[in-house]
Amino acid sequence: MTSANDIATAAALILAGGLVAFPTETVYGLGADATQDHAVAKIYAAKGRPQFNPLITHVVDVEAAFALGKFSADALKLAARFWPGPLTLVVPRRADCPVSLLASAGLPSLALRVPAHPIALELLRAVGRPVVAPSANPSGRISPTTAAHVRAGLTPDMILDGGACAVGVESTVVSLLDRPRLLRPGGLARETIESALGFALEDAETGGALHSPGQLESHYAPHAEMRLNAVQAEVGEVYLGFGASGGAHNLSPSGDVVEAAANLFRMLHEIDALKPKCIAVAPIPHSGLGEAINDRLKRAAAPR
Ligand code: TXA
Ligand code: MG
Repeated sequence: MTSANDIATAAALILAGGLVAFPTETVYGLGADATQDHAVAKIYAAKGRPQFNPLITHVVDVEAAFALGKFSADALKLAARFWPGPLTLVVPRRADCPVSLLASAGLPSLALRVPAHPIALELLRAVGRPVVAPSANPSGRISPTTAAHVRAGLTPDMILDGGACAVGVESTVVSLLDRPRLLRPGGLARETIESALGFALEDAETGGALHSPGQLESHYAPHAEMRLNAVQAEVGEVYLGFGASGGAHNLSPSGDVVEAAANLFRMLHEIDALKPKCIAVAPIPHSGLGEAINDRLKRAAAPR
């Protein structure tokens, strides 16, 4: 699917200020050279994203992250334990940090992540610089978990195809600016992070400078209306089931929230393509990745 030659071409495009979509273990990212303001601006334009939404900077390893941000003892612990992986850490920028301020949306902090995907890591190694990458979808739409999803919404200079993303929801975002705080639930469960830290994460404040657009109400919306905690479909609805609730579209027939997370955006895309008036979604348990799934569903169902 992706050759060494493709990686070299993609890296050259990024260094020349272009946009390349690439797979990560969570969702596909729309990548640009983090040190070029213009390339970063092109991302906001391509996504139609409000400019106050800061982006995640992707780096090849922990050492590359230390060169950009200041890590507290808790930040060090989480980086050592969970990178590469579906966890983003928000830390203070170093004074000499070369990442475009546009990528931080003017904040004195930086969101950093080492992705656990061989193509992402090969690309980062070939670029030799930090790469900013939001999810590769138009702003406010469903995140892409295949190259075809990317192609349906955006026209980057190149798309590296790595097949379907294993995790299927975005990374968990934890701020380490004061007490460790969960800004966005995601592919790494809150409980897993809390047991590594040995204490509970604070919740995100609503509003304020740290406001995370992952928290904008209707951020993950399909075209169809959404009805949650539905026991069955009504007339004009397509049902998205979970566990024994059955149906042609089922997030996880065996009732596994990890499998459901991996299927979530793909199935929402599939059902949305059928253009129903409304998508009726079965109740999803709240444990583990269920928190992130319910969070995305709640936003998708918010009035817009
Ligand atoms: O899994 C992922 O995280 C994917 C893949 C491509 O890595 N990326 C992704 O990026 O979801 P994006 O831009 O769609 O979401 C970035 C999240 C937003 O919720 C944003 O508010 C938060 O990270 N964020 C970024 N920088 C921040 C900062 N300095 N302070 C607080 N939140 C920040
Ligand atoms: Mg996104």
